[in-house]
Amino acid sequence: MKLALFVSGTGSNARVIIDRFRAHPEDGVEVVLLVSNKATAGALLMAAERDVPTLVLDREEFYGGTTLLNDLARFGVDFIALAGFLWLVPAYLVAAFPQRIVNIHPALLPAYGGKGMYGERVHRAVKANGEAESGITIHYVNEHYDEGDTLFQAAVRLEEHDTPAEIAALVLRLEHANYWRVLKKLAESEKILST
Ligand code: GRF
Repeated sequence: MKLALFVSGTGSNARVIIDRFRAHPEDGVEVVLLVSNKATAGALLMAAERDVPTLVLDREEFYGGTTLLNDLARFGVDFIALAGFLWLVPAYLVAAFPQRIVNIHPALLPAYGGKGMYGERVHRAVKANGEAESGITIHYVNEHYDEGDTLFQAAVRLEEHDTPAEIAALVLRLEHANYWRVLKKLAESEKILST
């Protein structure tokens, strides 16, 4: 599987994924490109330090279509993983990669998902509602925020005194432990399907 990671920020998930698959080529996942919609995203530096090619998108390129598809083809990308990518994925991209785009969301969808529900906002809302648990959802991407079919969920118990920042840290740990595993499984099932 030739994977492109799409990011908007720090890229700690992207870092874990790049480092995992670099160290374990037998997993069958190669990160061939990191795409950011923000020129200032820390993830760009992280990827450059690891010699992963990077691409910065502007809105027109992303929603206009053809240049991005050409770039993805140029790098041989056949699967996309969003890792903290904040723009809504347009229909042409979903159509070009059917069931081949996944996202990670820092909550147990369908709760705490949808437009505007990202980052700290999610964890503040979880805290405000006094939830006893939160977690992560890895799902296929369609043209609606956080609505594609769920592939994987993992939960973590919360204590009453946990702050939103502490909840964020617990959830991020779950993300780091699981996103690469799901990508590895997807790569394995592709291999089975193509043999
Ligand atoms: C993660 O919590 C992800 O679920 C959310 O944005 C955060 C990205 O963190 N969509 P990082 O950039 O991977 O550190």
